[in-house]
Amino acid sequence: MRRTLIAGNWKMNGSRAALAELAGMAAAAAEHPGVDVVVCPPATLIAAARDARSDVIIGAQDCHAAAAGPYTGCLSAAMLIEAGATLSIVGHSERRTGQHETDAEVRAKAIAVMAAGMTAIVCVGETEAQRDAGDAMPVVAAQVAGSVPDDATADRLVVAYEPLWAIGTGRVPSIADVTEMHAMIRTRLSAKLGAETAAAVRILYGGSMNAGNAAALLAVADVDGGLVGGASLTADAFVPIIRAAAALG
Ligand code: PGA
Repeated sequence: MRRTLIAGNWKMNGSRAALAELAGMAAAAAEHPGVDVVVCPPATLIAAARDARSDVIIGAQDCHAAAAGPYTGCLSAAMLIEAGATLSIVGHSERRTGQHETDAEVRAKAIAVMAAGMTAIVCVGETEAQRDAGDAMPVVAAQVAGSVPDDATADRLVVAYEPLWAIGTGRVPSIADVTEMHAMIRTRLSAKLGAETAAAVRILYGGSMNAGNAAALLAVADVDGGLVGGASLTADAFVPIIRAAAALG
């Protein structure tokens, strides 16, 4: 059985004061032990978030592929682990777009994350123009093929489907589109990693998930959790999503 994973991505938001929100999130995590609750704060807050010693799993938002070296402003997997992260998002669309990260770079980052003993949340998703052109499925299939390491194991890999046009917009795909896309992703993972591994990999939906739509999205067969941006910044917004996941069992 795949454990449901609800991950918050704070992006470039939050301060030490914002860590107070972790208390409510941790209480919900403790109340619902069947749900893995993750928060990925800005890297500057990882250590302080870890020191809160709550039931919330702390993750990073990005990780460099190299172990060390002349990469100004970047952080390695070992550094993130030392700070207290146990997983890292890689290939978020805001980095693919803003930092021009390619599938090959995302794959290299995922390999570094997994080799260090962390879990990688590999993000994929189409633009609105690609969906309008009828290319959403091949675009995402190519991202899965290029971004997911060939030897990934289910305990070290999570895939997040995040259509770019749904991120931060309040718009979400239809349940039929989410169903079709997640099933396709699992089929591609099966071809790449083998059926047994693919059956155990968690595939998250991300993009404007909130208290109002979480239950319907999380009920989709191959949706094993959510990657939540805006609605993960406060306990008031995030806890109902954790509860929705728990209610689905
Ligand atoms: P959103 O962001 O929930 O604010 O749409 C999701 C994400 O980018 O991970």
